[in-house]
Amino acid sequence: MSILKELLLLSPSALLLLVIFFYLSRYNRKQPNLPPGSHGFPIVGETFAYLKPHCATTIGQFMEQHINRYGKIYRSNLFGGPTIVSADAGLNRFILQNEGRFFECNYPKSIGGILGKWSMLVLVGEMHQSMRTISLNFLSSAHLRAVLLPEIQRQTLMVIAGWKEGVAFSALQEVKKFTFNLMAKNMMSLEPGEPETEKLRREYITFMKGVVSAPLNFPGTSYWKALKSRSSILGVIQKKMDERSGRMRMKEAGEEREEEDDLMGWALKQSSLSKEQIMDLLLSLLFAGYETSSIALALTIFFLESCPKAVQELKEEHYNILRKKSERGEHGLSWADYKKMDFTQCVINETLRLGNVVRFVHRKAIRDVRYKGYVIPAGWKVLPVFAAVHLDEEIYTQPHQFNPWRWKKCSVGTTTMSNFMAYGGGSRLCAGSELAKLEIAIFLHHLVLKFRWELAESDCAFAHPFLDFQKGLPIKVQAIQETTIT
Ligand code: HEM
Repeated sequence: MSILKELLLLSPSALLLLVIFFYLSRYNRKQPNLPPGSHGFPIVGETFAYLKPHCATTIGQFMEQHINRYGKIYRSNLFGGPTIVSADAGLNRFILQNEGRFFECNYPKSIGGILGKWSMLVLVGEMHQSMRTISLNFLSSAHLRAVLLPEIQRQTLMVIAGWKEGVAFSALQEVKKFTFNLMAKNMMSLEPGEPETEKLRREYITFMKGVVSAPLNFPGTSYWKALKSRSSILGVIQKKMDERSGRMRMKEAGEEREEEDDLMGWALKQSSLSKEQIMDLLLSLLFAGYETSSIALALTIFFLESCPKAVQELKEEHYNILRKKSERGEHGLSWADYKKMDFTQCVINETLRLGNVVRFVHRKAIRDVRYKGYVIPAGWKVLPVFAAVHLDEEIYTQPHQFNPWRWKKCSVGTTTMSNFMAYGGGSRLCAGSELAKLEIAIFLHHLVLKFRWELAESDCAFAHPFLDFQKGLPIKVQAIQETTIT
């Protein structure tokens, strides 16, 4: 009690110094074999420096300096708690493969608050598994072949039909339109251009800004605005779901109705999820699938623009597919055609390696873990940074160069492949990776066969930590006459 009295008599600055002293002494208390590191300021730690925007094809100054000073595994204080950061390929693999055993998914509160408590990014254990199973069924290869492939073609052709030769436009906005319309169609049968689709798209921009903001819920903050957008988006989903349930009841009553083959219908019919759970599932799939694929596609356009040799090889691959089809009198791409796009897959892998759409994921140790002589204490946050491995010159030669050929004849088990974690890994491996590859491959097919393109203005992709292009990737296109495709 007397200590408390004396503390209250101290001036505010002395009190602040005392708090900092206690904080530092607690942090520096001898802990067995913790990785080396620094802790930054009280509470916020080094979060701002870690998240400082940097060029997407680099690991940023913070990571570079910390790796140079402490090595590939270091400790820090990030996102409000003590953290182990890993740029070590082996540890990253170990973390992903031991989900539920030594580590657990642990996204910041802002993400959980906005995506909802039933979002797949937040759930762990059995509930995560059952949500994952529904998503994987929907994204199965049978569904990709029969439903998604023709839809991707239709949406690609719709988007590029609006491109005007010689007029600069934002390639990023165009690919965002493409991936958003595709997700909206496949999840809820929303057609492009419909007022509801456009409303959803506008709300989604505000929503995304909140995901990366601090969870400060008072009027005017990005987080507050994002929560309002979440309600509007859920309102649209709820309305669609009510209409759908009504139609399903009419069908049961014997009235013939055509059924939509989309994720909403699937979840309503085939799972025992509540409406609230279905809404969060739809929202989190929209989140997981829209931004990632669109930025990956924009990066592909960006990297290819400065690599004419790769564009030429792509053209040859896609022209051969087209020629053989026309000899057989066939139209539209089939699954068999897609499976012939080998070099295209090399381009996609290389884009994701160099561009790093998802740079790191959030985990926490659920028990003390020993690795390479270090201890990762239970309860600490753990960040496996994939970007640092993808850009590590000990693993990828000339890592800052766009070189799709490094993926040729590269099979499972090779260093190139086993250190590639663009889609995460283990029991949380991206559920939509096959869809993402299909989207990019089909879009590229039409792009390289129909257009030449160049940057209308120089631009650069940066990470903050979600990727964006400073100027929206302005490009100009020129149509290719069929006879000149060689
Ligand atoms: C190039 C595009 C994409 C990249 C780079 C990517 C990357 C990732 C990564 C790294 C994770 C793991 C997150 C973690 O472990 O915490 C993930 C998870 C996930 N992704 Fe993707 N993704 C892409 C496209 C898509 C698409 C198109 C969908 C489909 C809608 C999708 C759906 C999901 C889902 C549902 C999860 C959560 C899986 C789980 O927790 O079990 N992704 N993605």
